[in-house]
Amino acid sequence: MPAEYTPRPNSRQWRGVLREYADRLDISDATPVITLGEGGTPLIPAAALSARTGANVFVKFEGMNPTGSFKDRGMTMAISKAVEHGAKAVICASTGNTSASAAAYATHAGIQAVVLVPEGKIAMGKLSQAIAHNAQLLQVQGNFDDCLEIARDLATNYPVHLVNSVNPDRIEGQKTAAFEVVEVLGDAPDFHIVPVGNAGNYTAYHRGYTEELKRGESTKQPRMFGFQAAGSAPLVLGHPVKNPDTIASAIRIGNPASWDLALNARADSDGYFGAIDDTHILEAHRILSAEVGIFVEPASAISVAGLLERSAAGVIPAGATVVLTVTGHGLKDPQWALRTADGSDVQPTIVPVDVKAIAEVLGLAAGAGA
Ligand code: F0G
Repeated sequence: MPAEYTPRPNSRQWRGVLREYADRLDISDATPVITLGEGGTPLIPAAALSARTGANVFVKFEGMNPTGSFKDRGMTMAISKAVEHGAKAVICASTGNTSASAAAYATHAGIQAVVLVPEGKIAMGKLSQAIAHNAQLLQVQGNFDDCLEIARDLATNYPVHLVNSVNPDRIEGQKTAAFEVVEVLGDAPDFHIVPVGNAGNYTAYHRGYTEELKRGESTKQPRMFGFQAAGSAPLVLGHPVKNPDTIASAIRIGNPASWDLALNARADSDGYFGAIDDTHILEAHRILSAEVGIFVEPASAISVAGLLERSAAGVIPAGATVVLTVTGHGLKDPQWALRTADGSDVQPTIVPVDVKAIAEVLGLAAGAGA
């Protein structure tokens, strides 16, 4: 167990979502706080996206969490509750980010994480994280949906505690992101756009906004728009997809675990599920990194692509407030930035150790320094 300490409440260091939102989460004095300082992520105004759409666009940058994805919000909760209930080992299926997060929080708590990932189908940064944090990692010769089925089966029949988002503690922790948005904006946005895989995060934001409305902190329920990759879009098609396919490996999921919850959230919020092809995902990835200054993994860029698509369809009125969640950091899966639109590799220019030669390559005319 980590050393017990209680940070001073007036410290400027963010204390993690369990401490910051203790009064609004299903925890008690008996719940240990297993935290790496998750949450408190920036909500960044995106002038370039506002200019493209006429809306007032903000990006909730969840790559700023301790393991580089939004999963940490749910994992602090799931691991804390697992420890409270005496678990010695936790298990999850993952497309990479959940496994990285489970591994980090479990090891911080002094318990074992077991992670099942689809063989050869997760980004190298995420594989590296799980191994770095001492998880028992098994590459399953199947897809994510197979991994989840096995993880659920093992958790039912063996002494391991499931920390996938079918565990309600995960969604409970993840809803805190909506609290942060309302705090910063002073109200809920008109639209909230998220990438969708298992649809746990879509469900969590809807829950968080619903609670804010009930508490009187906000005046409206945002329309929840969720986007799936075109080759992996069961919620758009209305049926599971047997062999989901997309470069956005984090959301390569054919049978979402939170299907029914997500349909309820869509109905309640006048929401929408849409599909985006890989080309448009990569275009949006580039726009976000090159025009806004935020580097994300491909799955996260689908929020941007979804905004542009819905804006072009005339659904987003001028002046509407739109929040896009970008779920995972670009450094987890950096290779996509090094490809040009035609699929060739970017080759950074090589220059000699020579000021004049470099000035020439840069097209700088000789003259006084700026
Ligand atoms: N974005 C990223 C970067 C993700 O890793 C995930 C899910 C999602 C979006 C979708 O969130 O499942 O709540 O709809 N990743 C899971 C994992 C499946 O194992 O890391 P969701």
